[in-house]
Amino acid sequence: MSEMNRGLLQQFPEQFSFTPVIQNRNSIPLQPVSVVLGGMGGSQFGGSFLRLIEPSTDVLIHRDYGVPAYGQKSTDTLFVASSYSGNTEEVLDFAARAYDKKYPLAAITGGGALRSFALERELPLIEIQKSSIPPRAAIGMQTIALAALLNKKQVLADLQSLTDTLSAQRIEEEGRALAQTLLKKIPLIYTSARNATLGYYWKIAMNESGKIPAFSNVLPEADHNEIEGFDGVGPVPPSSFHALFIRDPADHPRIRRRMDETADLFTKRGVSMSMLDIAGSTGAERYFGSAYQALATALMLAEGYGNESLATPLIDELKRRLGKGGGTMGGA
Ligand code: F6R
Repeated sequence: MSEMNRGLLQQFPEQFSFTPVIQNRNSIPLQPVSVVLGGMGGSQFGGSFLRLIEPSTDVLIHRDYGVPAYGQKSTDTLFVASSYSGNTEEVLDFAARAYDKKYPLAAITGGGALRSFALERELPLIEIQKSSIPPRAAIGMQTIALAALLNKKQVLADLQSLTDTLSAQRIEEEGRALAQTLLKKIPLIYTSARNATLGYYWKIAMNESGKIPAFSNVLPEADHNEIEGFDGVGPVPPSSFHALFIRDPADHPRIRRRMDETADLFTKRGVSMSMLDIAGSTGAERYFGSAYQALATALMLAEGYGNESLATPLIDELKRRLGKGGGTMGGA
């Protein structure tokens, strides 16, 4: 593995030692009952991983301009604008609209215009440490920041212990093995519906860090439509795909059965497949462990194809074309 990629893998566990400081905390509802988090790409994952770890947390991820049309669920709904660079236009628009509507609003950012916006208006703000890890890998810091805003002490303790439990060496080996299986295939990632975010994280890791197409879907839904797409004569042979089923002990027992049966049907039609069990004694260990594995696999795949993994030139170019500054790391 290249020194740069190995460095990135080593920094992933280190981010869990991040100690968030909330500036201007007074306008946060004492006990927010729900959260609307505005964030794009890598900067949305604080909200979705917090919901994975604690499914009772009411978090809606808003990946668009403006605010959700239905507005505020209650006066105790906290709006959180999240952007690593602080310059993502959809998120700046979300923050401006939420502020205009006088919704309780906080910001999580590494700097840029979002930081200035929050400081000028004395909004609650957590500054995450911008470093050499790109936004899509900074999901630990983002989740810690959101858990701090919501005062979730147990989640914070579980997250902070990951600095010691995640092992860069083991993950590199696992990533290498899985990348060998996936090389020359288009990955199809399947999870349970409750873990849709995790599957999406695997997909975007393959896209952004691996620079290959990849797709994610959830069971049971895919069993009701997507599987038929592999039963006919199509533009590419079924052997072009590899179905990766991510199994979670927290899944409904029928999901496990569905994964087995779906995998069998796929195999009979020429789609190769593998099962990946996520493990750990806490939700934080299971979901961030799996995200770490996704990153390691994507980096190894990039190396297998000879692709550059860190920079995201297409994302940057698109941001430039749209007239907003894009950094060297897709918004960093
Ligand atoms: C780049 C990446 C992107 C960015 C996205 C939004 O590593 O993950 O998905 O996260 O373009 O930019 P930020 O995070 O700066 O708001």
